[in-house]
Amino acid sequence: RARQAASLVEIMQRAAQFYRQQLKQTPHAIDYLKKRGLTGEIAARFGLGYAPAGWQNLAAVFDQYADPALAEAGLVIVNDAGQRYDRFRDRIMFPIVGQRGDVIGYGGRVLDAAEPKYLNSPETPLFQKGNELYGLFQARRAIRDAGRVIVVEGYMDVVALAQHGVEYAVATLGTATTAAHVQKLLRHTDELVFCFDGDAAGRHAAWRALENSLAILSDGSRVGFLFLAPEHDPDSYIRAFGKGAFEALLGGEVVPLSAYLFKELAAQHDLASSEGRSAFLQAAHPLLSQIRAPALALLLRKRCAELANLQLSELDSLWQIKS
Ligand code: GTP
Ligand code: MN
Ligand code: MN
Ligand code: MN
Ligand code: MN
Repeated sequence: RARQAASLVEIMQRAAQFYRQQLKQTPHAIDYLKKRGLTGEIAARFGLGYAPAGWQNLAAVFDQYADPALAEAGLVIVNDAGQRYDRFRDRIMFPIVGQRGDVIGYGGRVLDAAEPKYLNSPETPLFQKGNELYGLFQARRAIRDAGRVIVVEGYMDVVALAQHGVEYAVATLGTATTAAHVQKLLRHTDELVFCFDGDAAGRHAAWRALENSLAILSDGSRVGFLFLAPEHDPDSYIRAFGKGAFEALLGGEVVPLSAYLFKELAAQHDLASSEGRSAFLQAAHPLLSQIRAPALALLLRKRCAELANLQLSELDSLWQIKS
């Protein structure tokens, strides 16, 4: 098992080298990155590459294209007829780096409007999406220096923020933010800011991140949300308005998790009627009961009681919480 994992690491590294080299030789791929405002320096920092068009380019990179390890690494697909072909073709390649600094997976973006826009590595022995965050390896020092981490949706958001000097951002990999993600990030810093796309999908992702953070929060850690206008994501925002404007938002517009939670619940229920308040409590209970941070749990129950027009002792007896 250990020997096999080592060879998968070598395969991923070798492929990354090939993709980087291909980018240097492919003017239209370089132009694409330039059009998106990226310099060669930032492309090098993130090890960006290009997977050329064609079905079996990796056959020239590896001695044994039929080596099952290439499929196990997620670089080669074997179809039902047993034919093998490269998973990533004609895509900008974003290597995903694990905590040891090794390439463990890739995200690949098309250069035009083709679908799917992004293709990710499948789950492999090296790569479990729900655990990994794009850019964390590169951002570690900046996160420590800034005292916080920004969690965004996309590869491009991370790279564009870094291009503009905001180097403490990481991205989930096209999946919901998991408890494992939050736990991992809180080992690096005590402040997390989720800044997803301003569109409906981004708002939905923010609520999922809240739900999946609750059980992980500890007293003293802070989780907040920065909501962008519907037409923006962090990439488009920082390109349009610059680092100063983005950091001004971080300084003034971050909504604490508790405020976001109650704002949403209050918007969904009519707190002016007993029926509405009972439904509000019904919705709040499963959320609040996940919080294991004692002081935070108490403070949120107190706020909940206020909104429901109850005493804290009444709420606690309703929820059978022993004082
Ligand atoms: P750009 O168009 O390059 O700016 O990408 P974006 O990151 O703004 O894209 P979007 O907001 O649509 O998606 C956010 C993230 O979701 C991406 O970075 C990907 O990780 C993931 N994603 C988007 N589209 C797809 C897709 O078609 N397939 C998969 N598997 N993931 C996707
Ligand atoms: Mn701090
Ligand atoms: Mn989006
Ligand atoms: Mn986006
Ligand atoms: Mn974008």
